[in-house]
Amino acid sequence: MQTGYIETESGTAPTPILRAEGLRKTYRRNAITTEVLRGVDLTVPAGEFLSIVGASGSGKSTLMHLLGSLDSVDEGTIWLENRRIDGLPSRERDKLRNGTFGFIFQFYHLLPEFTALENVMSPELVASTIWQWPFRRGAAKRRAEELLERVGLSHRKHHRPCEMSGGEMQRTAIARAIMTRPRVLFADEPTGNLDEAAGSEIMSLLKDLNRTDGLTVLMVTHNMEMAASTDRVIRLSAGRVDHGRQTPHGGHLPRPLDPSTLEMAIRGVGHDRFPG
Ligand SMILES: Nc1ncnc2c1ncn2[C@@H]1O[C@H](COP(=O)(O)OP(=O)(O)O)[C@@H](O)[C@H]1O
Ligand SMILES: [Mg+2]
Repeated sequence: MQTGYIETESGTAPTPILRAEGLRKTYRRNAITTEVLRGVDLTVPAGEFLSIVGASGSGKSTLMHLLGSLDSVDEGTIWLENRRIDGLPSRERDKLRNGTFGFIFQFYHLLPEFTALENVMSPELVASTIWQWPFRRGAAKRRAEELLERVGLSHRKHHRPCEMSGGEMQRTAIARAIMTRPRVLFADEPTGNLDEAAGSEIMSLLKDLNRTDGLTVLMVTHNMEMAASTDRVIRLSAGRVDHGRQTPHGGHLPRPLDPSTLEMAIRGVGHDRFPG
């Protein structure tokens, strides 16, 4: 077998950036056990913009946390290209989280006492020792300024999160997430708390990072139009990827997907948001 390729049913394919097999995760709290993931298989080609949909509580965040090494699997395997990354020692996991992977969340998770600029610089600060930081600080600041400019926030550099709108906070969070040049960005309901205009700005930014920089993006969303505008949509249901409703890009379905195709995939799961 050639390096950089994996065997598939129909021959060989480039090694996907992420591959998960048989992921299982159960939460136990006191006497209550919640079996969240019951054998999730997923392959993500490098450069894909993948949407993950499913009912509240279906395990979307749990899946992102496992794939992004924020939490550990009970069973199953995860590969980052040819490297197995489930069950790594915590030092190695920290490296992945601070380097290879970037994260953005519905509620931004910015540091409230830090300005936008300081928030964007913070991953470099975390990655540096106290001795390295004085030497790295200048370059980190310049890069953070460039990134803030890229997300259209040069004029908000010195603002704290409480002085910014939701959209501005999320744009700051995106700049922070790409500070260390990750290869995969996990976005958990990144527009879930934003109005339509701010939400579509965030989507444009994510698409630009995907297309221009080749960043692989995994996004959880309840917004079917946004999901439909990405390369592929998968649905989590009963603890597994519902392959029956998977809608691969580049195969037989045109891109972007017709929102009505997706409506079926989402309807009946997000009852609160998509009644009927
Ligand atoms: N740390 C935890 N401890 C116990 N139960 C949890 C924990 N995290 C998530 N759960 C439960 O697991 C299920 C899936 O949660 P989650 O992955 O957040 O779903 P989603 O993101 O699809 O809404 C939910 O029932 C949730 O209550
Ligand atoms: Mg969630």
